[in-house]
Amino acid sequence: MTIEIRKHGRVGAEVLGIDLARPIPDEDFALVRSAFAEHGVVFFRDQSITEPQHIAFARRWGAININRFFAAHPDYPEIALVVKEPDQQHNIGGGWHTDHSYDLEPALGSILAARELPPEGGATAFASMYAAYDGLPEPLRARIEGRRAVHSARHIFGSKAVAYEALQDTRSDGRIGNSSAADVLDDPVHPVVITHPLSGKRAIYVNPSFTLHILGLAEEESRDLLQEIYAHCQKPEFQEDFHWRDGSIAFWDNRATWHYAYNDYHGHRREMHRITIEGVALG
Ligand code: SIN
Repeated sequence: MTIEIRKHGRVGAEVLGIDLARPIPDEDFALVRSAFAEHGVVFFRDQSITEPQHIAFARRWGAININRFFAAHPDYPEIALVVKEPDQQHNIGGGWHTDHSYDLEPALGSILAARELPPEGGATAFASMYAAYDGLPEPLRARIEGRRAVHSARHIFGSKAVAYEALQDTRSDGRIGNSSAADVLDDPVHPVVITHPLSGKRAIYVNPSFTLHILGLAEEESRDLLQEIYAHCQKPEFQEDFHWRDGSIAFWDNRATWHYAYNDYHGHRREMHRITIEGVALG
């Protein structure tokens, strides 16, 4: 098979001519790696992989982060379950975010495999933080250059989580848990603009879910600046939806993209398997 990399609209690229159920030759892996670094998210169609094959593909990229807050697959703790049942109202990931920015060494990325899909809806939106950085108006770019921001998981996953009023059922039905682990996490500080560790490109690295405030600014000033950055990053020109089909897999880079899961398929089941790969400190 010959690998082909095809751009996916404004964000990401589809990798064709690859079978993730088989060991990937080094030269093909290098092509996927370079597409991943360049585009921020890569998509694979018509794959048929078992859970151990999903894990093997993830291990090719680095150590697996065992999720502390999501329910795990009963047989494979490496796989976090992202599920919404027909009678549940709220989904997981239903707001713009980048996974694990609340860690000192934020995760490299996540590999999400579709296992059961609703008949319609349930897409995932991606926004390119490379494109958002490149598209910054000069005055805003100057205001954020060199700044650093505090991130946290406690207000989302902790025992005093404010956001959970809107996500009550993900916690009460056991899809999300372990709040005591979130309560004791240290809140890391990351640059507002990072130099991406793989591509060397500049990317915006704050997100509406996990970033608390920008260091050195008064609370209101920090909130206003974050809102301005978020409004910019959410512009349609930096976004693209990914519509899942049976056999689809998405592998996104948490340092180069935001994502959110549409919650538009009430009354139907959606089950995704997510494996997250450890990353490095960001500079
Ligand atoms: C996530 O935010 O990790 C889940 C995305 C999705 O379910 O589409």
